[in-house]
Amino acid sequence: MIVITGISSLVTNDASLERGKLGIINNAALVVGDDNKIAWTGEEINLPSEFVGTAINVDGRAVIPGFVDSHTHLVFGGDRSGEFEARMSGKPYSAGGIRTTMAATRSASDESLAINAHRLAKEALNTGTTTLEVKSGYGLSVNDEARSLKVAGQVTTETTFLGAHVVPPESAIDEYVDLVCGEMLKQCAPNAKWIDVFCDHGAFDVDHARAILSAGAQAGLGLRIHANQLQHGDGVQLGVELGAASCDHCTHLNGKDISALADTNGRTVATLLPTAELCTRSKFPDARRLIDAGVSVALASDCNPGSSYTTSMPLVISLAVLNMNMTCDEAVWSATAGGAAALRRSDIGNLAAGSHADFAVLNSRSHIHLAYRPGVKLVDAVFARGQLAAGSLR
Ligand code: NIG
Ligand code: FE
Repeated sequence: MIVITGISSLVTNDASLERGKLGIINNAALVVGDDNKIAWTGEEINLPSEFVGTAINVDGRAVIPGFVDSHTHLVFGGDRSGEFEARMSGKPYSAGGIRTTMAATRSASDESLAINAHRLAKEALNTGTTTLEVKSGYGLSVNDEARSLKVAGQVTTETTFLGAHVVPPESAIDEYVDLVCGEMLKQCAPNAKWIDVFCDHGAFDVDHARAILSAGAQAGLGLRIHANQLQHGDGVQLGVELGAASCDHCTHLNGKDISALADTNGRTVATLLPTAELCTRSKFPDARRLIDAGVSVALASDCNPGSSYTTSMPLVISLAVLNMNMTCDEAVWSATAGGAAALRRSDIGNLAAGSHADFAVLNSRSHIHLAYRPGVKLVDAVFARGQLAAGSLR
């Protein structure tokens, strides 16, 4: 059992407290039970007497749920710093760069892919991320996708088969779609919880995406889609039609797309990835329009070596507030409970009694500093499943 006291502001995301969407408790305490789940939260003054005396005092710091980063590509070889440098000199971003990482991934050993994925997962943990979704998608052959998913499974249970990232150079598109829906899916499904398709210019069109997602659903996988990142298209409409848990990117949306997402009543989440816009110098989506229409919005890092080589959810929160018209409260909710909703989980992303004890202790009195102090290290300590997993409380 762990008792934390001296919390200036505790973000619980527990709507049942009737303290707003973030369920904020000031001057709070938190108790982790022996099952590593949240046993009690409330004002410290009401801390049950059996817990008093054994506490760790965080001395006026804020505590928030651990970030749920519901969109990452952590399994890859090499990097694309040369492409980044060229882009910063004016060369546009294109989906084609994925093939550069495909080549590096195919020639990497399982061990070096695992070392890289663990390195990035640790980097994410250090900035407060306690749950990661991890995609394959840089192998693009049956064997390389299957081994990528085994590596993904070493860092998370939220694994996603993204064989349909782009068409590899040795294949024609129709033949590759058949492979993805057939043998590749068969070999990958046992190690995947989700299936995803990059439905965009230079990748897969809506008909191919429909075929691939339908085959994934048949194999028992949940659906996700990369949609409307590089240009407007029908990807979001397809995601909604098929009941995907999340449509990701959503950079180019029209009113019809927004209504379709809103009409799902939160069943299909719009996951926004502002560091991808930042690193490709693209326009940011307007989160305000989505939220005002009633769409459930998640924020994620999209960590990958091409369009967004960062694991920092605090940076994502800053950008969402500064460039996408989200309030500080909305951005923190979307990076925690919103990410959980995009993974259809209610046991993470909040600190209600019974949820996993995944939380971050900030070095500020309030979660507002996450947006207010861009680029600054604000996470002092991270608890994952009730254990101190990164940083320290000294
Ligand atoms: O989500 N959009 C597709 N996939 C990644 C980029 C992959 C890459 O450039 O390597 C993304 O941004
Ligand atoms: Fe992505």
